[in-house]
Amino acid sequence: MFSSLIICGLAALELVAAASTKKTSSTTYADVIRVQSWNLRYDSMSDSIYYPQTASGLNATVPYTSEVSWYSSYTEKAWSTRRIGVASTIQFMNPGVLCMQEALNRQVVDLAGMMPEYKWIGVGRDDGNTSGEYSTIFYRPELVTLHSWDYFWLSPTYTVPSKYTGAGSIRIATVGRFTSANGTKFSAICTHWDDQSEDARQYAASMIRYRGAYETKKWGEVLLFGDFNSPSSGSDDGGYNIITGAEDMVSVNATFLAEYKSSLSDTFVMEDLLKYTPPQNRSGNHATFQGFVKVTDTSDLKRIDFIMGGSNSTITPLRYRVEEMFFDNGYHQSDHRPVIADVQLGTYKVSKSK
Ligand SMILES: *[C@@H]1O[C@H](CO)[C@@H](O)[C@H](O)[C@H]1NC(C)=O
Ligand SMILES: *[C@@H]1O[C@H](CO)[C@@H](O)[C@H](O)[C@H]1NC(C)=O
Ligand SMILES: *[C@@H]1O[C@H](CO)[C@@H](O)[C@H](O)[C@H]1NC(C)=O
Ligand SMILES: *[C@@H]1O[C@H](CO)[C@@H](O)[C@H](O)[C@H]1NC(C)=O
Ligand SMILES: *[C@@H]1O[C@H](CO)[C@@H](O)[C@H](O)[C@H]1NC(C)=O
Ligand SMILES: *[C@@H]1O[C@H](CO)[C@@H](O)[C@H](O)[C@H]1NC(C)=O
Repeated sequence: MFSSLIICGLAALELVAAASTKKTSSTTYADVIRVQSWNLRYDSMSDSIYYPQTASGLNATVPYTSEVSWYSSYTEKAWSTRRIGVASTIQFMNPGVLCMQEALNRQVVDLAGMMPEYKWIGVGRDDGNTSGEYSTIFYRPELVTLHSWDYFWLSPTYTVPSKYTGAGSIRIATVGRFTSANGTKFSAICTHWDDQSEDARQYAASMIRYRGAYETKKWGEVLLFGDFNSPSSGSDDGGYNIITGAEDMVSVNATFLAEYKSSLSDTFVMEDLLKYTPPQNRSGNHATFQGFVKVTDTSDLKRIDFIMGGSNSTITPLRYRVEEMFFDNGYHQSDHRPVIADVQLGTYKVSKSK
């Protein structure tokens, strides 16, 4: 069970403490990594303003407090206006792995240029190449090593660009297999579920639960990042309930099952890491979606973006935070807030070397 794994993690922390106070010769392998999920909002107001122009338009003078126009604008801004704030927000948070949803090719390429310490994987969902929104995984090669990656569509014809019948859009999931700095194997799954079809979300959740179990058996620990468009309760919570095991998976494509179903499929679930983070280590906002609205407008606030951990491994969330994207001197960087977690992968290994 996941809860007992957390207890394992805590016991290990005590071992670390004991080791340092007793000054015994021991080796401890920790694998703490910061991870982030962020729906960036697609480039809906495309223009031909490139980075150098945005950068040269910034004002270097620090204004006096009396000169600031608080929350000066809340309406959506073009990507060309948002891009530098988005990149510097990510770089300040400094995640080792970042799942980014909704970004179009231009946004992915832009960020790759502004954040040279990251590499990325992913494809445009409309053609499996560069067209349409990406569910991209950015990662820092200094902290994690990419082993392999792939992607599949969240529809019965999962190997080709395709839309679930009744869904609003073509939907995709990206899977990256990594090894952390201290050698823990883990898979990161990045996804963005449909906003219009409850059936499509349930289908997506079922496919990803099968895939998560498969990753556990074939590779290692599993982290899932996504904008589910499904909250944890309410009339549209089927996707959340299926991925977390509160509801059964729906039936999916037989070829997919033949490829990914395993003895772990029936019991494997993805755990909502917020729930498993000690209350004193949860911070920031509750809602992950705000919309391009005034800071006082709470009508659309909801928690639909998640970081989850596979149930059959030793992931322990240390800290969990829903960050901000609407700052008092400006405008929204996106309509979603970034979700950040510090997670302990693997197990602590304490061995006497002398
Ligand atoms: C996998 O995890 C689930 C949920 O915690 C648990 O019920 C199940 O027994 C585990 N399966 C195995 C094979 O350990
Ligand atoms: C890897 O293990 C070393 C030795 O215990 C530790 O100092 C370091 O913080 C660990 N790295 C990570 C990323 O957790
Ligand atoms: C830059 O900011 C300062 C301080 O708020 C302001 O006085 C000045 O007019 C700004 N310059 C431009 C070009 O917007
Ligand atoms: C993928 O897209 C790029 C640029 O958008 C294009 O040059 C390339 O030919 C495309 N590749 C395929 C296989 O369609
Ligand atoms: C199942 O998926 C395979 C691979 O994408 C596809 O060829 C097949 O047509 C799908 N079956 C159904 C019933 O959609
Ligand atoms: C909570 O966060 C603190 C400070 O960042 C950390 O040292 C501690 O291990 C965390 N506690 C748990 C139970 O994860």
